[in-house]
Amino acid sequence: MAVEFAQSQTKENLMRAFAGESQARNRYTIAAEEACRKGFYALREVFLFTADQERAHAARFYELLKSEAGCTIQIDGGYPVDQSESLVELLKMAAHNEEEEHKDVYPAFEKIAEEEGFSEAAYAFSQIAKIERIHGERFAKLAQMLQQETYYEQEAGGEWMCLNCGYIFKGAKVPPVCPVCRHERGYFIPACMAPYLGFSNCN
Ligand SMILES: [Fe+2]
Ligand SMILES: [Fe+2]
Repeated sequence: MAVEFAQSQTKENLMRAFAGESQARNRYTIAAEEACRKGFYALREVFLFTADQERAHAARFYELLKSEAGCTIQIDGGYPVDQSESLVELLKMAAHNEEEEHKDVYPAFEKIAEEEGFSEAAYAFSQIAKIERIHGERFAKLAQMLQQETYYEQEAGGEWMCLNCGYIFKGAKVPPVCPVCRHERGYFIPACMAPYLGFSNCN
């Protein structure tokens, strides 16, 4: 049943999504600082990269509220206090929140938007839910690698990229410093997570 946007549940859900994305962005920039303090410079980049995408999500939801410019929208909602000095915990909490958005929150918002007749909002919720799935899986994988100590070591041999100079290291264990730029090992990221490494698969 179509409803006026100003009276809709979707209007409130868009504001909830804007609030949630805005907070996720800040949580990740704060987590990035923690990663940096611990010398995991590549993880800092992963958090910041994801934070920028949360900003983009927030911007899209905010844009869909344009007709309400000048109004204040009251919402209620629960938001997590994801604080820890453990990087594994920070990654796990991030993965959990991403999964919640992907599995529960955005699909529910999408359904309501469909029912209320707001197809653009429904589309945004459905597509951003898919992106959050990727975010969640990435954070979960990183948490697992840190926990199982395969982030810098792979017995059967692995590949890593130094994010400072681009050097690709192949072997069982990332050296303490990059042999090329002499930056510490925290700049290395497992190749499966390295940016722009997939050119050999391009047509
Ligand atoms: Fe997001
Ligand atoms: Fe996300």
